[in-house]
Amino acid sequence: MENLIWSTGHQLKFDNIVEANNCHLTDSSGNQWVDLESGVWSTSIGHSNPRIAKLISEQAGKLMHTGFCYCSALNDRTSKKILEINSMPGGKCEFLTSGSEAVEYAMRIARRVSQKPLALTFSDSYNGAYGDVSMPDPSSWFIYDRFGCGCNDPVYGCSGNCKSFREIPFHEIGIFLLEPGSSSGLVRFASDSLINRIVHQVKSAGGIVVANEVTTGIGRTGKWFGYQHYQVNPGLVAMGKGLGNGYPVSAVAVSHEILNNPAFEGFHFSQSHQNDALGAAIAGEVIDIISENELVKSSEILGEYLKTSLLVLKEETTLIKEVRGRGLMLAIEFTSCADAIYNNLILKGFITGRRRGTEVLRLDPALTIDLGIIDQFIATLRGLLLELTDEKAQNTCTNNR
Ligand SMILES: Cc1ncc(COP(=O)(O)O)c(C=O)c1O
Repeated sequence: MENLIWSTGHQLKFDNIVEANNCHLTDSSGNQWVDLESGVWSTSIGHSNPRIAKLISEQAGKLMHTGFCYCSALNDRTSKKILEINSMPGGKCEFLTSGSEAVEYAMRIARRVSQKPLALTFSDSYNGAYGDVSMPDPSSWFIYDRFGCGCNDPVYGCSGNCKSFREIPFHEIGIFLLEPGSSSGLVRFASDSLINRIVHQVKSAGGIVVANEVTTGIGRTGKWFGYQHYQVNPGLVAMGKGLGNGYPVSAVAVSHEILNNPAFEGFHFSQSHQNDALGAAIAGEVIDIISENELVKSSEILGEYLKTSLLVLKEETTLIKEVRGRGLMLAIEFTSCADAIYNNLILKGFITGRRRGTEVLRLDPALTIDLGIIDQFIATLRGLLLELTDEKAQNTCTNNR
């Protein structure tokens, strides 16, 4: 890679992938890997999904991009589908390209409509690469550390029943930005009681809930959206990643209440790739494929199967500390050796999600993964953990067996 900048912060492992099919990647020499990370948690219905590939080639030959004074009816049709799966009658959508843009767009509307100076989010949330959320300014954000409070629950963190919670300045908070998957916190879902209490406090004072569904949306957690695990009706929902199945399209759904708020009037946001026809067509087809094949249910069932298999494995080894997650958004936390496990899994044909400096591997496979692949992965991991247990005893976990 002489001419390419690789600034992602992640190590480049392969530079010659030529083909991808559902959960499999193939390189130019014919080697194959199972992608248990779905690219960057994006290929919700599998790499190179044939229906999406067909739609792209047909739609690209008709209309891809539109302009400031014209658009396609496709956008309206996909908006309707997005509003339906969010149960947002009377709402509207706008299409963008990345998750960061969608969250930024949603926050701009929320800030405009909010009557109060602060927005609240959790310190273990990731909300985007730039804009309002990327470097939260203390004059406009209250960042709550739900694992640093007095509740001392290592799994769910704060339950909303402690001194730190009571000290949250709700009188100044008009927005709750909920990222239900704790991406930075590596898949630590918040307790019902914490979310319900925050939502109650914010909403009863006329505030707004913004759901960041970039990662947790589109069936990933066994429901269409992560917020649907809680008692929440968000005013704004930001979506991305799985919505385009690898194609860069994102969307924001805005509720009827927000649209009718006088402060919304005159809202302006303008960029080149906004409400593009191709992105909207792909998003609509992804939603149809998921609905027709009941893939949200599959995510729940397959996720439960994968999690249960991992929990069985946990009983067999001292290397696994915790298995957590919802649907097909799971994390395995090891007691040690995560780097060696990650690298050896790649050598054995499995790509998992890894963030350096942690002992965690993430599993976010396509909703179309089959049981056979899950079983192969579990068998491979079991074998590897057995081999590594001895090494761990000697403190010599090696990356290349
Ligand atoms: C929860 C969450 N929000 C927002 C984003 C930003 O999305 P994108 O990388 O598409 O801009 C991400 C990306 O990983 C994410 O996980």
